[in-house]
Amino acid sequence: MKLTDRLLKIASLVDKNKKIADIGTDHGYIPVYLLNQNKIKYAILGDVNKGPLENAKKEVMRNNLLDKVDLRLGSGIEVLKPNEVDEIIIAGMGGMLIKDILKANEAVSHSAEKLILQPMQAPEELRMFLYKNGYKILDEHLVREEHRLYEIIVCKYEGEKPQDINPIYYEVGQKLIEKQDPLLRDFIENKIRINQNILEKLSGKEGDAVSNRKYIVNKKIEDLNSLLNK
Ligand SMILES: C[S@@+](CC[C@H](N)C(=O)[O-])C[C@H]1O[C@@H](n2cnc3c(N)ncnc32)[C@H](O)[C@@H]1O
Repeated sequence: MKLTDRLLKIASLVDKNKKIADIGTDHGYIPVYLLNQNKIKYAILGDVNKGPLENAKKEVMRNNLLDKVDLRLGSGIEVLKPNEVDEIIIAGMGGMLIKDILKANEAVSHSAEKLILQPMQAPEELRMFLYKNGYKILDEHLVREEHRLYEIIVCKYEGEKPQDINPIYYEVGQKLIEKQDPLLRDFIENKIRINQNILEKLSGKEGDAVSNRKYIVNKKIEDLNSLLNK
């Protein structure tokens, strides 16, 4: 089993010797890789669906790791007790679902030392939730896999005051800008292209709703361009 760049990057963000949970584990590749590398000694693999959890179990058995894992069927982090693991990975799901998973068991999401989140869609919704609900974003990463750029958010609950920030930072993580992630320019230029396409589709159309939409999209393009020059 060879991990893709996305999964490898997620695995690299786990700290040595920590107890981890991989929620929505599916194939179980991340925890199996980390156990094989001896980077961790124990993992809980959770999935809400039986089929994926069976896949994970097969992968664990193929690697003779059954005594080092706990396989749990259930939704999100509801399969965990507070402080049972140090670090939690929730990857390959939509941002809204990740947000709902964090909200559904705050005793667990608030006590984790580190949350490694990799939203496939709606990352801006997830960031907004984190900023407004006491989480601190510790770091962010971009990974290219084939033609797509994936976002990874590393965070922790610290009971921070809800933060009001320029909404553009829900779309482009501040940490990516601070450290000038090598893929940042591609990431922002891609977002500009998407918004320009929206404007093209709106051209020739009229009405208040269209004007309002055009205004919002133009403002977003302007904000994205300003990030390119930071
Ligand atoms: C696309 S796979 C991602 C697998 C792996 N984490 C990755 O990043 O490649 C999504 C997995 O999340 C599981 N899933 C969906 N909703 C879930 C929930 N509420 N709790 C736990 N697992 C869930 C699905 O059954 C599926 O196995």
